[in-house]
Amino acid sequence: MCGIIGYVGSENSIPLVLDGIKGLEYRGYDSFGCAIKTGNKIEILKDIGRINKVIAGQSIDKRLSSMSMAHTRWATNGGVTKENAHPLADCSGKIAVVHNGIIENFSDLKKDMQNHSFISDTDTEVLPHMIEEEMANGKSFEDSVVSVSNKIKGFSSFVAMNSDSDSLVAVKNGSPLVLGIRDKGVFVSSDVPSFLNYTNKVVYLFDGDVVSINTTGFKVLKSNSSSHKVNIVNFSPKDVEKGKNKHFMIKEILEQHELITKLANSDISYLREPASIMSLAKKIYIIGSGSSFHAGLMAANILRDFGRDATALQPQDLYNYSKLITDEDVIMLISQSGETMDIIEALPLIKNNKKIGIINTEGSTLSNSVDYFINMNAGHEKGVAATKTFIISAILATLISMFSINQETEAVNDLKLLDINLYNLFVPSVYDAIKKTASEIKKETNLFFLGRGNDYISALEASLKMKEISYIHAEAIDSATFKHGPLALISKGTYSIANVSDRFKELEINNLKEIKARNGKIIGIANERLDIFDSFIRSQSAGIFSFVPQVIISQLLAYYVSVSKHIDPDHPRNLAKSVTTK
Ligand code: F6R
Repeated sequence: MCGIIGYVGSENSIPLVLDGIKGLEYRGYDSFGCAIKTGNKIEILKDIGRINKVIAGQSIDKRLSSMSMAHTRWATNGGVTKENAHPLADCSGKIAVVHNGIIENFSDLKKDMQNHSFISDTDTEVLPHMIEEEMANGKSFEDSVVSVSNKIKGFSSFVAMNSDSDSLVAVKNGSPLVLGIRDKGVFVSSDVPSFLNYTNKVVYLFDGDVVSINTTGFKVLKSNSSSHKVNIVNFSPKDVEKGKNKHFMIKEILEQHELITKLANSDISYLREPASIMSLAKKIYIIGSGSSFHAGLMAANILRDFGRDATALQPQDLYNYSKLITDEDVIMLISQSGETMDIIEALPLIKNNKKIGIINTEGSTLSNSVDYFINMNAGHEKGVAATKTFIISAILATLISMFSINQETEAVNDLKLLDINLYNLFVPSVYDAIKKTASEIKKETNLFFLGRGNDYISALEASLKMKEISYIHAEAIDSATFKHGPLALISKGTYSIANVSDRFKELEINNLKEIKARNGKIIGIANERLDIFDSFIRSQSAGIFSFVPQVIISQLLAYYVSVSKHIDPDHPRNLAKSVTTK
């Protein structure tokens, strides 16, 4: 969702901020803007559309300034218009603000500011006017921002600029903000990779923080936390480049085997500690949204197979479950971004529970909220659709679950088997089958993804990928329920893509026969070609990790359908990478 970057330094800040904001494009946006301070003046340049178009149209890259900030907006309050794009300014044009989040009490705040002129429909615009009021009452710029941060409700982070100040002031609450420290200046940004070309020294901010940055460093103006140490992050700018790949998505799909090999050959005994926390729990709840929910479903299903009480929930379900969850239950949170607002908002419902987080973003709101943080270490994921973070989080959640029920040896052996068998997945014959299938289904408007047990969970993830990046309506259905209604949707030529692993093979074949009898077409993802299949993509077995090859095939299938329809899979319409609104 919205992306923020600002820089104050002793050199021209504009190329650094423009480079950084391009690094935030992956979050999804519909308009772009920046504020540039020259002397005692702030210039605001903004428009709807892609960053490059706005830069070129307004010659933003030709300017000089030691302090600037930029913003990509993903519309929530107010439509996609130039007026609603950030930065937004006060009446005098001396204060500019970029913002990520929602100010829940903005209507009430606005009512008290009848004497101010507002130009947008956004909630954000109250911020520069509130700072203006505080300053008119005699407060300094920095104190004014602190005071405003105390008056707004809801989760939101923002950065404010004042034409008479040499500092940018940043407020973090809910939405991500980090600092990047250089010898020559300081960045404030929505994420670390946006400034990795310039520094790997990072200060993670905490909810409730207000900090000011200038050429010499940063100053904490308000905080509930005592530690703002400088961390050295160990991934390089190369990790966030496409290399020879056409899209980040295919790069990230192909990286998965390497990540799995690394995991299979590394010391994972550190998982024993969270596993022991889980082993003492009365019940285990696994919480996540979208693909992270599917990763949770997989681990919960595997736990139940071993007789352990576990349920995967989406954060919105917690409201309904709150009376059932006891303090003795342990919660596992799964999130790529660590910033999913639906989960953050639901945290008070599980405040008394021990929480283990499988999260890909260190320093994120969720990584700071759990008792035990497990870093996915999947590297930065730029494709909007989760690929490697789904696979790694599902594997980690399964490993910890298996460790917690004394199945460590089996889990580790299956992981090694997965690593070996993946060499047979990434081979030309499988790619050919996937590409052939992609060209066969690309004109479809409806697809069904089927399976039973874990195969059904793979189908859920497959259908989500297909919807997101190919815009085909794709529905996952548990094969057992097909005959209870959905079968009515099958007619001559309707495609069903079935995950068939060994466990439920015979039952699955019976269901597929019902589709075949109605002249439906069946694409099988299985370890062997079955007569019932019209076409077939060869998967691999890997014990409890057999879902991994199935899902990787589905990711590739969705990718090739997307590309053949000339869709940009890295930036699917209407979607954002971190969902920081409710
Ligand atoms: C699907 C996808 C989304 C995310 C969901 C949760 O490809 O990317 O469904 O999985 O928005 O995001 P995180 O994992 O950041 O909490």
